[in-house]
Amino acid sequence: MAYLTVPITAKTVEQSKQQISSAANLGADMVELRLDYIEGLNQEIVKILIDHSKESKMKTIATCRRSQEGGVIDYPRQFRIQILAFAAQSGADYIDCELATYKTAAAKKSINAVLKNTKAKLILSVHDFKKPITNLQEIYDSILLTCPVAIPKIAYFAKNINDCFAGFDLLHTKETDLILIAMGQDGLITRLLANKLDSLVCFASLDNQTSTAPGQITVSQMRDLFRFEAQNEQTELFGVIGNPIEHSLSPLLHNTLFRQMNMNKLYLPILLKGDQLEFDTFMENVTTRQWLNFRGFSVTIPHKVNALDYVSKIGGFIDDQAAKIDAVNTLVIGYNERVNAYNTDYEGAIDALVLGMNINRKQLEHKKVAVLGAGGVSRAVVAGLTDVGARVTIYNRTAIKAKRLANEFKCQYADISEIGSESADILVNCTSVGMYPKIDQIPVSQDIIYPDMTVFDTVYNPKETKLLATAKEKGAIVINGLEMFINQAIEQFRHFTGKNADRNVVKKIFEEKF
Ligand code: ATR
Repeated sequence: MAYLTVPITAKTVEQSKQQISSAANLGADMVELRLDYIEGLNQEIVKILIDHSKESKMKTIATCRRSQEGGVIDYPRQFRIQILAFAAQSGADYIDCELATYKTAAAKKSINAVLKNTKAKLILSVHDFKKPITNLQEIYDSILLTCPVAIPKIAYFAKNINDCFAGFDLLHTKETDLILIAMGQDGLITRLLANKLDSLVCFASLDNQTSTAPGQITVSQMRDLFRFEAQNEQTELFGVIGNPIEHSLSPLLHNTLFRQMNMNKLYLPILLKGDQLEFDTFMENVTTRQWLNFRGFSVTIPHKVNALDYVSKIGGFIDDQAAKIDAVNTLVIGYNERVNAYNTDYEGAIDALVLGMNINRKQLEHKKVAVLGAGGVSRAVVAGLTDVGARVTIYNRTAIKAKRLANEFKCQYADISEIGSESADILVNCTSVGMYPKIDQIPVSQDIIYPDMTVFDTVYNPKETKLLATAKEKGAIVINGLEMFINQAIEQFRHFTGKNADRNVVKKIFEEKF
């Protein structure tokens, strides 16, 4: 079990007290008094802050960092040692001293003396703010050799998500309490999984301004979005793999559904930098550690083809639609560890059309459809439409790509300048034109839109693109990209859990978000 812990980072006593009260109000368990932030630090201040924490029913870690390990005010070593000893005497639950400081004879003597006479426990910490630490086990052992009753704390900077797994291994095999953090955006999952993996502390900030380390997230996000309290050893893990990933709506959607449906599951944003090699390494890291309990992933740009190649290589199951589209957006890890690959964009697109037009799939047969774009989204849409027998023509800025796609799916293509020369029943935009932030752009001239047409834009941010606003004005039926996003997500949820998510509930989650 981890204590949800807020670092207190104010310069003055009054501001520090306010931060402690705010941490208590937000539902944190513990505060880390970063005494090296406080100007004019003295013993009286330390006592006031520990007393205030106790009154606020907060546990406390007291620390006064040396500057080489992130300390803000460079207080002399002897003074810092005295402050830590005094914090222990004043009732701090934990005092955190850098291993390098503790190894000095003076520190050992003073700190060991107070450990004997107080209830405070000692955390011995090692930080590397620049790079991953490769000999984690060695450092863990050396901390315990230096002081067998100490709680090791090891914090390092992750340069890739794959740097997190050595830390997870140490958490898995540890024989004492341990605090382990991989800092930076690439290390985020070590914070999000602190409770499941039993790191003693999960550091989270009050807000985005008061964070003390790169990659820290807020207490509210930790509790509300990432299900801090609900996590335990059995929690099954899911996530969206992509780069960039911070704006993905999938964690909000799946975690809200997991909570509402009372499922012991957690969905993570998984920033995976790199290409096929890093993707394969990540999947190997996940699948060789059954105890982590990863069960499935959504896959997004730029890894949809990497996912397909990975599953082909390992001889996993690839469903027909993913094979046809040549891209995977859903991976499910079976309990037998077999990896299954799907593409739910196909179903998502076709369902958006039939729901929006209030018809069934059969009625799409022979409809004339103009598809704009020849990229990844277009592949899924064209595959779905040609399967149901629609008469598809692909138009793309780069004509050769339209030609290749059309040949593959046995449909028509034409130069983008010819769009509108033959009227279509349905126009589908599969380009990124009109997407936030360039919301004033429109992929085609408004002259080609007619009142009896259906216009479907796969762009979902903004919900109403300029193309859709124009089509609506002209009296066409309009279908927004959020419908497709929702459909593919519901289908993914079914692959992940075997359960159906209520469409209205899913819509409400997005409406509240927007
Ligand atoms: P996705 O996976 O989202 O489909 P993609 O594979 O990069 O992304 O494809 C983007 C599509 O949008 C392509 O068809 C691209 O046209 P090109 O093949 O000519 O690059 C199209 N696109 C992007 N920006 C465009 C623009 N400004 N005007 C016209 N088409 C554009």
